Amino acid sequence: MSPHTLEEQLIAYLTDAHALERQALAQLRRAPKLAGDEALAAVLRVHESETERHEQLVRTRLEAHGASPSRVKDAVMEAGGLGFVLFAGSQPDTPGKLAAHAYSYEHLELAAYELLARVAELAGDADTVAVAREIRDEEAAMACRIEATFDGTVAASLQAGREHDPAKLLDTYLADAHALEEQALGLLDKAIEIGGPPELTRAYADHLEETRAHGDALERRLAQRGARPSKLKDAALRVGAVNWAMFFAAQPDTPGKLAAFAFAFEHLEIAGYEQLARVARAAGDPETVALAERILREERAAAGHVADGFDVAVQGSLQALGVATA
Ligand SMILES: [Fe+2]
Ligand SMILES: [Fe+2]
Ligand SMILES: [Fe+2]
Repeated sequence: MSPHTLEEQLIAYLTDAHALERQALAQLRRAPKLAGDEALAAVLRVHESETERHEQLVRTRLEAHGASPSRVKDAVMEAGGLGFVLFAGSQPDTPGKLAAHAYSYEHLELAAYELLARVAELAGDADTVAVAREIRDEEAAMACRIEATFDGTVAASLQAGREHDPAKLLDTYLADAHALEEQALGLLDKAIEIGGPPELTRAYADHLEETRAHGDALERRLAQRGARPSKLKDAALRVGAVNWAMFFAAQPDTPGKLAAFAFAFEHLEIAGYEQLARVARAAGDPETVALAERILREERAAAGHVADGFDVAVQGSLQALGVATA
C-alpha cells in the first residue's frame, strides 16, 4: 500500500536510500578488479568505505523512526548492481563504460539525497536533513573524482585489445552515443506521458526536441565517416527505456523517482560525451570534437533544469499521495 503520511513517506525515502547504498556496495566490491585503469580502481576503492558508512548512517535514521531496511528492496537492488558490473566487464570498452556508469550512479545517489533532505525538512526531522546533506556532499565529491579519471579511462580503452585503431574506437563511441540518445527519446517520451509537475514536464519536453537533434547530428557524423549507427544497440537500449519507464509509473512517488533517474541519465550522457570528445581528439577528428562539446553543453543544461525541479518533484510526489505538508 502507498504511504499516506509524511512520516511514512520519509521512511519510504530512507528505505530507498538504504537499498541504493546496498546496490552501490555490491558494485563497489567488484568493480575495482574489472576497472582496467589503476586511477579509476583507486577512486572506487576509497568510495567503498564511504559507502559502508552511508549505509550505517541511513540505517540509524531508519531505526530512529522505529523502522528497518527492507530486505526485499535491498536484495532486488543488490542483484541489479551485480548484473551491471558483469555487463560492463563483458564490454570491449570496460574502463570507459564503468567510469560512465559510476559517474551516473553517484548522481542518482546525489539526487536521492537531495529529495530525502527536502522530505525530512518538511517532516521537521533535522537529524535526517543533516545526514542527507552530508552524504550528498560525499556523493558529489566522488562524482568529481570519477570525472578526473576520464583522460585515463579513454587512454586505457585506446590501448585495450580489439580497438587499437582510434578511428575505429571513435565509430564505436559515436554508435554508443546514438544508442544512448535513442534510449533518451524513449525515456523522455514516457516521462511526458506519465505526467507530473508542469515545470518538470516542460523540461522533459524541451530536452526531447534537443535529443532528436542530437540523434540526427550523430547519424550525419557517422555517415560522413563512412559508418552508421548500430541497429542492435539502438533497439536494445530503446526496449530498456520502455521497461524502466513502466517501472517508474508503478512507483508510488513517480515524479521524484523520475526526476532522480532523469538527472542520473543526463550524467550518463555527459560522461559519454566527455569521453567521446577525448576519443575524437585522439583520432584527429576536430569536427566530432566540436559536435561532442556542443551536445555536452546541452546535456549539462538539461541536467541543471531537472535539478531545478527537485522541489516541485517532492511537492508533486507528496500531493499525488494525498500527504498534507502545510
Ligand atoms: Fe553513498
Ligand atoms: Fe556513492
Ligand atoms: Fe540528454
